[in-house]
Amino acid sequence: MKRAVLSVFFIIFFFLTVSLYAQQRTEFLLEKNWRFSKGDFPQAISDDFNDKNWEEVRIPHDWAIYGPFDRKHDLQEVAIIQNGERVPTVKTGRTGGLPYMGTGWYRTFFDVENFQSEKQIVTLKFDGAMSEARVYVNGKEVCFWPYGYNAFHCDVTEVLHVDGKNNLLAVRLENKPESSRWYPGAGLYRNVHVIQTNKAHIPVWGTYITTPFVSEEYASVRLRTEIAGDHANIRIVTEIRDMDNKVVATKDNTQQLDHGRPFEQNFIVENPRLWSPETPYLYTATSTLFVDGTKSDEYTTRFGIRDIRFIADKGFFLNGEQRKFQGVCNHHDLGPLGAAINEAALRRQLTLLKEMGCDAIRTSHNMPAPELVKLCDEMGFMMIVENFDEWDVAKCKNGYHRFFDEWAEKDMVNMLRHFRNNPSVVMWSIGNEVPTQCSSDGYKVARFLQDICHREDPTRPVTSGMDQVSCVLDNGFAAVVEIPGFNYRTHRYVEAYERLPQNLVLGSETASTVSSRGVYKFPVEKKADALYDDHQSSSYDLEYCFWSNIPDEDFALADDYHWTLGQFVWTGFDYLGEPSPYDTDAWPNHSSMFGIIDLASIPKDRYYLYKSIWNRDEATLHILPHWNWKGREGEVTPVFVYTSYPSAELFINGKSQGKRTKNNNSLTERYRLMWMDVCYEPGEVKVVAYDENGNKTEEKVVRTAGKPHRIELIPDRNMLSADGKDLAYVNVRVVDKDGNLCPLDDRMIRFTVSGAGEYRAAANGDPTCLDMFHLPQMPLFNGQLTTIVQAGETGGTLTLEAKAKGVQSSKISIRVE
Ligand code: GAL
Repeated sequence: MKRAVLSVFFIIFFFLTVSLYAQQRTEFLLEKNWRFSKGDFPQAISDDFNDKNWEEVRIPHDWAIYGPFDRKHDLQEVAIIQNGERVPTVKTGRTGGLPYMGTGWYRTFFDVENFQSEKQIVTLKFDGAMSEARVYVNGKEVCFWPYGYNAFHCDVTEVLHVDGKNNLLAVRLENKPESSRWYPGAGLYRNVHVIQTNKAHIPVWGTYITTPFVSEEYASVRLRTEIAGDHANIRIVTEIRDMDNKVVATKDNTQQLDHGRPFEQNFIVENPRLWSPETPYLYTATSTLFVDGTKSDEYTTRFGIRDIRFIADKGFFLNGEQRKFQGVCNHHDLGPLGAAINEAALRRQLTLLKEMGCDAIRTSHNMPAPELVKLCDEMGFMMIVENFDEWDVAKCKNGYHRFFDEWAEKDMVNMLRHFRNNPSVVMWSIGNEVPTQCSSDGYKVARFLQDICHREDPTRPVTSGMDQVSCVLDNGFAAVVEIPGFNYRTHRYVEAYERLPQNLVLGSETASTVSSRGVYKFPVEKKADALYDDHQSSSYDLEYCFWSNIPDEDFALADDYHWTLGQFVWTGFDYLGEPSPYDTDAWPNHSSMFGIIDLASIPKDRYYLYKSIWNRDEATLHILPHWNWKGREGEVTPVFVYTSYPSAELFINGKSQGKRTKNNNSLTERYRLMWMDVCYEPGEVKVVAYDENGNKTEEKVVRTAGKPHRIELIPDRNMLSADGKDLAYVNVRVVDKDGNLCPLDDRMIRFTVSGAGEYRAAANGDPTCLDMFHLPQMPLFNGQLTTIVQAGETGGTLTLEAKAKGVQSSKISIRVE
């Protein structure tokens, strides 16, 4: 009996020791049990403040996305200099017409288990907080970070309660009006982490992995590890593992730290699998830190092995192969979800972009959420990580210029250390169209920022999106920036190439073609700044802002010149705010029309134009417009086909309209097949495509839809994870009795969700629609909308039902596991 008690005692003792020993580092998110209120509450930093009446929220949270939309929110009377304006006018919807401005407070209590203040360090890490964040723990201010897009962290060890329990975290955020050119979101819109380590530990972003030599045979990998805290007699054992968790290299090094330099280890990985958008292969390096022979920390860094080169006159090479960036710029908002970060929503965006053949993202014009960079590593997208939209000279009255002098370097350092181990990141951008580009000393600021990049990460080149071509060619600014990036101004690429010493040109921002999904305007013509009474733009994809162009011009530059590096289209997705060309007192427009994909994540026609050129693995054959033109009988209604095939023949109700082949007569004929003289008659539009050898390969048909008959629900996924965050995007459409989309239907659809999840939001992509996203109803826009449902935390079946007047309702089930 005694022996049995003793062995139980030893077992308990053994597990206790092992678990304490194993607990060198813990990290968790503060997601639940937050309270939030708009307004200013200085007393909220104290324990006895009563927040019972505050709203209960979950982080990430965007306080402004619940609206309501209103013209009065953040009305800005400005002249947008970079758009060529000289006289101020009233800008409506510039920041989305949503109430992001003002002060707001968040409060929560958190516990740190087994807290030992004399032996440990507790760090709070914010992935981003919008904006001017003041963080208080147990009544004391622990950090302040003004820039809402950047991640930051602070050591809170000293202010925690000795038992580690019940620590009050209060965060004050303040968004000034006129602080942004687009919808910034508001609040704790990204994750908040608690990290508990020993005193001697690897600090936040404390490792730096590079691959100084890369070949098919072997790669050399260099790991530099910083160690915080008392750290005499250091030993680090690092194992590099492949995606099958097999150890492919290992080092066990002991060394005294030398003059403050990080601890360095070098490895050879034989026959490495190289990272690329097509093969996003990742490795991990897990380092165990021993101090005086005792294990003190364990830290894993994920990385990729790849070789990037920018060669003058030749272009960009990834792993030895030349390629052009087929990229898009995106703002950070997730349409109907606002700025509140959600990994499933990001994955949905990237999935659509991947199918289009897109291989790169520019995080315009600010630091991305870490979830986006992680997904780009995993799914295979190259990234330009960008920091600022203004430096010391203002674009917005209350923009970042207020903080630039004091904060620019700190913001740069956090961005660079945060993302310098991610293989997806291939370039840093130090700014977008900064007005400083035209000042005579502007190049000095560029050099200051570029030098910080080189100091923190000598392995990636630096770019900047420049729009004032004359200024930057004349004043030396463009010659200073390592990779000159031009925003639009395609007609000046050749001149820039010839005048600049770099002999390379990047399309850092291209196209800014505008269109509304499912809207077609007549006559069909190429037009800058076309305005219509319905505040929409035409989906024939020939309309653009006067400073920009149609996609065909950028395709040609990439195809015709070796030294062009490719492009980043403005934009992949429509975003909240900046409703050009309806930005000047044109309420109710509240969101952009630049997107290849609309605000509801539904591809516009343009998606198929890009896909036809960019996606070389899958054929594209897409017809526009829709064929429901009651009242246009006999009138000229051009038909365009976006296709990867060289030729096609078009038939209207069986009558041939002739065969077209892509040709060099004009830019549009080079990339599109167009039948400009087709006269409308209801019925059937059929396109028959031919390959290079003249063989019929594929056909497609669009029919005039009959009376609206029923709702169709098409989910992007049939199974979700029961994590309380996972999302399904459901395409909601009204079709006739034969299943043809009714392309003009705009009826209100109402949603009910029951079972293992909840309704999250809906959007229809109409930039003039004022219905709020979070309410369970939304009118269709040109026959379609998207509704988003969210998994609960327990498994089961989630049921979504959609009803509308005059058509059959529809119901689907999604498994939650
Ligand atoms: C660019 C700018 C972008 C966006 C775009 C619209 O000049 O960099 O942020 O404003 O124009 O075309």
